[in-house]
Parts: sequence; C-alpha cells; structure tokens
Amino acid sequence: MQQACCLRGVGKSYVGSVLILGAAAVIVGCSSAGQVGPQTKPYLLPIPNASELAHPRPLEQRGLPAEATRAAVPPNNLQSVDKVALGQKLFFDGRLSADGTVACSSCHDPARAFTDGRRASIGIKGRVGQRNAPTILNALYNTTQFWDGRARTLEEQAAFPIVNPSEMGQPNLEAAVARIAGIREYRKAFERVFGGPPNSSNLLRAIASYERTEVSFDSPFDHFIAGEKNAIEPAAKRGWALFNGRGRCTTCHSVTRGQPDVTTFTDHGFHDIGVVMIRADTVTMARQAEQLVTPADMGAVDRTAIQSNLSLLGRFLVTRQDADIGAFKTPGLRNLLMTAPYFHDGSHATLWDVLDHYNKGGDLNDPLLDRDMRPLALKEADIDDLAAFLASLTSPDYRQPALKELARQRKLARTTRPYRDTARAFGPKPIV
Ligand code: HEC
Ligand code: HEC
Repeated sequence: MQQACCLRGVGKSYVGSVLILGAAAVIVGCSSAGQVGPQTKPYLLPIPNASELAHPRPLEQRGLPAEATRAAVPPNNLQSVDKVALGQKLFFDGRLSADGTVACSSCHDPARAFTDGRRASIGIKGRVGQRNAPTILNALYNTTQFWDGRARTLEEQAAFPIVNPSEMGQPNLEAAVARIAGIREYRKAFERVFGGPPNSSNLLRAIASYERTEVSFDSPFDHFIAGEKNAIEPAAKRGWALFNGRGRCTTCHSVTRGQPDVTTFTDHGFHDIGVVMIRADTVTMARQAEQLVTPADMGAVDRTAIQSNLSLLGRFLVTRQDADIGAFKTPGLRNLLMTAPYFHDGSHATLWDVLDHYNKGGDLNDPLLDRDMRPLALKEADIDDLAAFLASLTSPDYRQPALKELARQRKLARTTRPYRDTARAFGPKPIV
C-alpha cells in the first residue's frame, strides 16, 4: 500500500514570497510515495508521486501577477508552510479514496502539468468519466472551478472528486476524514496546522492552500511581452498577431480593459463553441436533465457531469438557462503542450485539431453557437503560427517534454486532421 509521505526542507528560500509568508524552506513531498502495490487488477494505475514538479513554485516568475496572486488567498484560509505541506501530502495520497487506489494526483499528475493525458479521467475500479481533467496550475486565478463552473472556490471544488463514485468514491466526506484521522502522522499535522483533529473543512482548506502554490508563468512569451524582443521565434510573433487579429481569439481568451490579457488568457466566461452540438440533440437532453437533476443540488450536477451523457449540456446543468446549453468555461492557455488532449471532453488530440475547429467556425448549424464563432479563413501557415504562439506559453519546468510533444503533434498533424474543413473555413461568414 501507500508509503507514508515525508516532509523535509531543502533550504531554498523564497525571498519576497507572498504565498508562503516567511517561508525559508521548500516543502518536498516524498520521492517514493504513492506507488500502488503489485498490480493484481488490470484497472489499477500507479498513483503519480510528488516529484520535483509537485513542489510549491516560486513567486519570482516573469509574468506572475503579484496583486491577483495575493487576492486569490481567501482571508479564512491564509497560506502557511505547514498547511501547504499538509495539503501536498493529501493531494498525493490514495488513502483519501474509498479503496486507497486513487489520489488527486492520479488525474492531476505534476509531470503532465497536473493533468492525466487522457480524453476523460479514470477513477476507482477503472471507472471512466465524461470530462477531460484540467490543470491545477494557475487554478487559483479561476473565478469558478470545473468546466461548468459548478464550484466557486478551490476549497469547495476539492470536496466533489472525493465523493464522486467514478473518481475517489467515498460515500461522504466524513468517511475520508475518518480514514485520514486514523493515521497518526496526519493527526499530528492537523494539530500543528489547525490546532485540532482532522475535520472536513480543514482537509479541504489544506488541499486548496497547496493548489494555490502552483503558479506557472515565466514562459518565453512572458519574457517577450516584458520587452525581450527575441524571447520568442518569428512564427510565434506572427501567431500572437493572428491571436489578437484575424483569429479573433481574444474575444474570449481575452481582452481586459481594452488590452489583451497576457496573464490568464480567459474571460472567465462560458461559451458554446460548438464542440458537442454535432453529436447530439442537446435541447431534448436539456429537457431530460430538468426532470432528472435536482436544481441547485451541486452533488447531483457533479455526478451528472462526470458520469452521464448529459455531461455535454455543460453550464446549463448549473444555471438551467437554455442559453447555457453546451457552454463551457473558457480555459486558460498556458502549458497546453503538456495538457493534451483538448476541450472539456478531450475530443481534440492536437493544437492543430483545435485550430481546425476554430478555423471552420465551430458547428455553424448549432443554434446556440456563440456569435463570436465564425469561419476564419486561416491558411495552413497561419495555423502553424498560432500553434507556435501557443507553444511559447510553456513554463520552463516543462520546456523539454513540451518540445517533444510539439514535434509529435506537428508530425501527427501532417497526416491526421479529422476536424479540417477548408471549404467551410474559407466559405461565407454568417450574417450577424
Ligand atoms: C478520477 C480523476 C480525478 C481525480 C481523482 C481528481 N480530479 Fe480534479 N478534475 C478531474 C476532472 C475530469 C475535472 C473536470 C471535471 C469537470 O469540469 O466537470 C477536474 C477538475 C478539477 C479542478 C478544476 C480546475 C478548473 O480549471 O476548473 C480542480 C481544481 C481539481 N480538479 C482538483 C482536484 C483535487 C484537489 C482532487 C483531489 C481531492 C482532484 N481534483 C481529484 C479529474 C479528477
Ligand atoms: C467564443 C469564445 C472563444 C473564442 C473566440 C475562442 N475560444 Fe478557445 N475556448 C473557448 C471555450 C469556451 C473553450 C472550451 C470549450 C469546450 O471545451 O467545449 C476553449 C478552448 C480552447 C482550447 C483548449 C484548451 C484546453 O485546455 O482544452 C484552446 C487551445 C483554445 N481554446 C484556443 C483558442 C484559440 C487559439 C482561439 C482563436 C483561434 C480561440 N481559442 C478562440 C472559448 C473561445
């Protein structure tokens, strides 16, 4: 089973750190934690452990928004070194799940920029969900959590996977707390951090505190925007111009106070960009969901989103507004080469597939399609340039694997383009 996690300081200091006030040590997770024992069941996947990439990240990164980072810490859950260390330990610990086999890191692996590389995630007993796991990196800046925004805060969010039957499968949060409270090391850590035995709100607070240390900037693009003219290649510069111009990407990824947002690349809004409409009669499904899912019961929304095909209704499940049918949250665009496949359902394998989708204007037959979606008439060279720009948003931690992935995607895109539709991309624009 799971090995106990060790915590030790390695003496690297975070001077000027606002997230971990007064910290003089980096918290290191155990290097050997989290391996599930002999694989007796075919669905048992090893739990990714707390490698180097799992550590709280320094705040001295080019492009990191200092004020927003401070503002992301709620007054009732201030950061501390011990709390973050406890949260990190919990994040990598399979013992939070019903049968000990699945940790948060199972689907949010730091080696993959805290995603799992699958179309849809796999939880306990090999149960496959409906949605693609987003990254935890920079999730502290999200104004809502999940693809449909059904949770407001990281604390609120963390409760859902623990009790979702297809994720960590606990019957309720108390069962997870009881399991953790049965472990001496955790009792000591909760006592030290919160002055009492483990309880559910403090468990969620510790995990959220850890997640708030996963800040990821300092990409070549951040250096470029800061004035280093040659920090990105000419193709990426052309891609950045297309992103702001003919590509229309900034209508959602995004413009803040008249300027392109160069920090999170999202409007924090929800849009139907036509990823799902082609496959289903969503309006009929929406009427079904109204019968089956109790309004305002976010537990029920969570189970529907993860376990049923009504998942494709997206934001509608939360708001019950027809305008939100098939609408999903605009995600950030950093470290994309580590977070393939793309979109809420992982349906698009490469950045070229995503760009083909935008180039043809999504699904023009979709009555609820966002009005900012339209054919873009991008040539093949434009698409390559946009991909080069997106690649320039890779943080240094992931530089090497991202280069490999870029080469893999580029090669694949030369032969496999299931979403390319040149006739539509260069066809008539809708009348608006
Ligand atoms: C079985 C896989 C799985 C496990 C285990 C899991 N997650 Fe997730 N996580 C997902 C998927 C899939 C989503 C997206 C679901 C959705 O939007 O409906 C998600 C979404 C999130 C988000 C929202 C990010 C965003 O940009 O909206 C956060 C934060 C998160 N998970 C943290 C955690 C934490 C903390 C744990 C452990 C307590 C955890 N996850 C366990 C698969 C998993
Ligand atoms: C109308 C708003 C809108 C516009 C315009 C738009 N996006 Fe998006 N983008 C979204 C939404 C919403 C999603 C998530 C959709 C889903 O998963 O169903 C998304 C997803 C993505 C993803 C996948 C990210 C991931 O983690 O899976 C990438 C990459 C992306 N957009 C890049 C772009 C680029 C490049 C452009 C311009 C060519 C663009 N977007 C234009 C709203 C928009």
